[in-house]
Amino acid sequence: MFAVNAVRHVLYISMAKSQIIILEKTDSTNKYCLAKFAELPDSSLVIAKEQSEGRGRRGRSWMSPPGNLYASFVIKKALTPAQNTYIGAVSAIEMLRQYAPGIPFWIKWPNDVFTKSLKIAGILSERHCPENYNKSDGAVVGIGINLNTDKCFYEKNRLKATSVKVETGNENDITKFAVSLHSALIRNYGIAVKSPDLLFKAWKKENILIGRNVDIIPESGFQVTGLFRDIDKDGALVLTLPDGNTRKLYSGDVSVKFK
Ligand code: BTN
Repeated sequence: MFAVNAVRHVLYISMAKSQIIILEKTDSTNKYCLAKFAELPDSSLVIAKEQSEGRGRRGRSWMSPPGNLYASFVIKKALTPAQNTYIGAVSAIEMLRQYAPGIPFWIKWPNDVFTKSLKIAGILSERHCPENYNKSDGAVVGIGINLNTDKCFYEKNRLKATSVKVETGNENDITKFAVSLHSALIRNYGIAVKSPDLLFKAWKKENILIGRNVDIIPESGFQVTGLFRDIDKDGALVLTLPDGNTRKLYSGDVSVKFK
């Protein structure tokens, strides 16, 4: 059922409690959801056709021209930050496989989705803390999926990235994509709540850099090289250094570069 709000957005009620809100343009769907967190039902999905201040991980910006999917999913149940991002990453990769069958997709720890050596989707989970309250009451999982941008966009902006359209030759309907993504997110949210280990395993198996040598780029300081040995239950990357010592790394602190 579609109902049109003439001024700002189209509202699509997909389930009894949750909803999809489609905005023509916003600064950032994550920012929008965090600001309206109290009034958005659990499992709501907000998408924007364009973002003026799209946010990426580690304070980077996320270029958001019209044509791609910019979505944020509202989580109100108590999950860990790592679990929140697994929901986004596993759902994104499921959708990409549906829209680009036969194309190999994989996760670059913590939550970038790649095909070959090109990024096609990114996840940014942000916790919500009510004012005057130091405990989080949920999170917003931001999902950016390159759906319809052309190759020249990535070339012009010197981005090592691609889109579903570049990979398949097909133009994709963003609203239809968002409706299917919403179902995937709701399903994986349910799995995170009822069988967290199952979701962790589904996410971990997509991390194909396990067992390979990688460069670790910290927020500050020097780059280190090591063997990406494993991923811990809490989502931390377990790195074996050339001297044989082991280090656990957390997603906020470092980025991984593969060779
Ligand atoms: C990254 O790979 O750095 C994460 C990118 C996340 C981008 C999405 S687009 C929808 C949502 N709103 C934002 O401002 N960011 C996320």
